[in-house]
Amino acid sequence: MSPFQLTRTLAPDAADADLRADVLDGLTRSPKTLPPKWFYDAKGSGLFEEITRLPEYYPTRAEREIIIARAAEIAAATGARTLIELGSGSSEKTRYLIDALLPDLDTYVPVDVSESALTGAATALLAERPALKVHALLADFTRGLALPGAPGPHLVAFLGGTIGNLLPDERRAFLRSVRAMLAPGDALLLGTDLVKDEATLVAAYDDADGVTAAFNKNVLSVIDRELGADADLDAFDHVALWDAEREWIEMRLRARHALSVKIPELNLVVPFAAGEELRTEVSAKFREEGVREELAAAGFDLAHWWTDEKGRFALSLSTAR
Ligand code: SAH
Ligand code: AVI
Repeated sequence: MSPFQLTRTLAPDAADADLRADVLDGLTRSPKTLPPKWFYDAKGSGLFEEITRLPEYYPTRAEREIIIARAAEIAAATGARTLIELGSGSSEKTRYLIDALLPDLDTYVPVDVSESALTGAATALLAERPALKVHALLADFTRGLALPGAPGPHLVAFLGGTIGNLLPDERRAFLRSVRAMLAPGDALLLGTDLVKDEATLVAAYDDADGVTAAFNKNVLSVIDRELGADADLDAFDHVALWDAEREWIEMRLRARHALSVKIPELNLVVPFAAGEELRTEVSAKFREEGVREELAAAGFDLAHWWTDEKGRFALSLSTAR
């Protein structure tokens, strides 16, 4: 077998149908919303990587610090022979984990909706680890996954705090679906950003260089390109707000003036009032007790809770019951 295989679990037109359904549903409701997975075409994936290097965006650095400090412990505790990573992106932090799991690790299974991210990550990993098997899945991790047959024990990694981009109901269903793909004794490594002061959080989602603003507006470029729409990126402002009650950051796009967006592929015209906002992402922040409870409800026992030195981000290791 070649060390790199990529399986498309969705036909190309299925992604297209999903985009149409999400745009039709999200832009005809009040308030308007779109799911964040549509940020990540090749340009959006590149912008996210740029975000991870911004001085204001601490989560990537904080999580990398924890992974480097705990990789050997994670490898010893799990003995994983297959590592499945959901929303793997560049797999940049994961390489520390892979190196700690080798040589026992048989297969790395990165799962992402971004084909450019999957091929870029696999190429970089294999250049330095020719013996590793990489079986990438181009798939939506909220849609139930058909995993390739690979030896246990299995470790699922869900890093970066991406679980915070799911709404509470979606999170519950998602964690149950992850548990369903594992056997008792398999493990889940989960990255969660933690509740902290508002100024730090808002700065992380509204950086001085405007990279996050460009990332947020990229969803409009995707709709323009894929659905022939005429959304003008300059007609919208990037907004990042802390919702203290729900303990999540919301990213929104606010119409600078009254306008309408034509979407010929959907036969739809979407009116925006001046100042009207479209929610493009939530990024929930967590506390240890909440994470423990959500994991327990899905059938996982939290075994380790590690934070970076400044206590900004947590990595937890749980066992499937
Ligand atoms: N884990 C990496 C990347 C985080 S960015 C890190 O910690 O830096 C979020 C990643 O999840 C992106 O690569 C995006 O393409 C992917 N993603 C977002 N929604 C997804 C979905 N529903 N299914 C699969 N991948 C998704
Ligand atoms: C991928 N995810 C965890 C990022 C986050 O922080 O919620 C996406 C992001 N949105 C704005 N900046 C980064």
